Amino acid sequence: MAAIEITGGTALEGETWISGAKNAVLPILVASILGDEPSRIGNVPHLRDVTTTMELLGQLGASLAVDEQMNIEIDPRGIHSCEAPYELVKTMRASILVLGPLVARHGRAVVSLPGGCAIGSRPVNLHLRGLEQLGAKVSVQNGNIVAEAPRLTGARIVMDMVTVTGTENLMMAATLAKGTTIIENAAQEPEVIDLANYLKAMGAQIEGAGTHVLTITGVERLGGAEHRVLPDRIETGTFLVAAAMTGGCIKLTNAAPHDLDAVLDKLSETGAELASGADWISLDMKGQRPRAVDITTSPYPAFPTDMQAQFTAMNTIAEGTGIITETVFENRFMHVQELQRLGADISLKGNSAVIRGVDVLHGAPIMATDLRASAGLVLAGLVARGKTLVDRVYHIDRGYELIEEKLGQLGARIRRVESVEAALAERTDS
Ligand code: EPU
Repeated sequence: MAAIEITGGTALEGETWISGAKNAVLPILVASILGDEPSRIGNVPHLRDVTTTMELLGQLGASLAVDEQMNIEIDPRGIHSCEAPYELVKTMRASILVLGPLVARHGRAVVSLPGGCAIGSRPVNLHLRGLEQLGAKVSVQNGNIVAEAPRLTGARIVMDMVTVTGTENLMMAATLAKGTTIIENAAQEPEVIDLANYLKAMGAQIEGAGTHVLTITGVERLGGAEHRVLPDRIETGTFLVAAAMTGGCIKLTNAAPHDLDAVLDKLSETGAELASGADWISLDMKGQRPRAVDITTSPYPAFPTDMQAQFTAMNTIAEGTGIITETVFENRFMHVQELQRLGADISLKGNSAVIRGVDVLHGAPIMATDLRASAGLVLAGLVARGKTLVDRVYHIDRGYELIEEKLGQLGARIRRVESVEAALAERTDS
């Protein structure tokens, strides 16, 4: 199983680019099946979750073509199946996003019910309840969600909790419903806005994207559209933290700094100097050690849970003590035990981690458990003395495009190895 080997101790310097956002491209690719004409999606990152989504859409009967710039053309006219099977859903929970579009466009969806995952139980009850409110008959049969409706009808839906993919699923479903749907307590994430912009380009009528109330007036049909996916704010934040931890100075291009306010505020608190333009951002740490920061995760525009592991990693070597509180997912501290293997001083109390910054971390073999946890571990490896081997790198490949190349471009000593065992054997031989 492939692993990443990092030799720590280099301050990151230079420039690299930011890819399209994983959590925007997945719902956008799926939304294309609502249309009755082909769509063309640009700025698509080359990620495992994108490949899985393409495989899923292909199995439904859509035709997909990708060019060398990763522009994807999707023709939904051949869709003949309404089933998202267990084999795909178990590798990518975001497969649940086909539920709303399939019922809305084809009157029926059969989607394997996602189980729990490494960061929490992650139920989809709000997706299902919302679809029922739109008039679908929903049941669970043999591990599959079965949803049916000849045509959905608009409704007022008050979400019990803010859910990103829940909001996206219901917004997509409502675009083809009869009448008006109001979604209250909707997610306000930039990825929801990007999806709404794409749907509007296809002909949907949506107001309020980016606020907590969405108003969707159903239309009879949607066409195709051309859309460029917004830059990945979590990748941007991850590289900025990497630079801050290593005392470096970097510039990121093709970024969207205005989507990152809460993260940038915390980076300023660490002592980093930030500058930005419309599509770039730079961070200069001037060789200093970052100051520890306290963080509480919450839905957008507050501090994102997807940046929690990276800031946990930074606090391990920061000056002072930082407290990180995770309020979105109940089990998103799997990286803590791995960071402790590198010498981090962290105590977990309920949903908070108290992190006392240490002077040095020491490289060791460690294991990635989920996507953002693995990003946190790679960042720790960048500052740890000696070599860190991060196993199960397939988690990283789900959401970070060319991570070794990009970090390498910034001067990190990082490479992909065939396996942890092979890398350790190589060291003994030399
Ligand atoms: N929740 C429910 N019932 C539901 C839906 C959600 O109780 O029906 C709960 C969840 O268990 C969680 C909270 O609501 O405690 C928020 O979860 P949300 O539904 O917002 O998460 P998600 O839509 O499944 C997306 C991202 C995640 C990101 C979260 C939070 C995608 C494909 N995934 O997940 O991204 O962490 O929003 O911002 O957009 C990642 O990229 O690594 C990742 C996990």
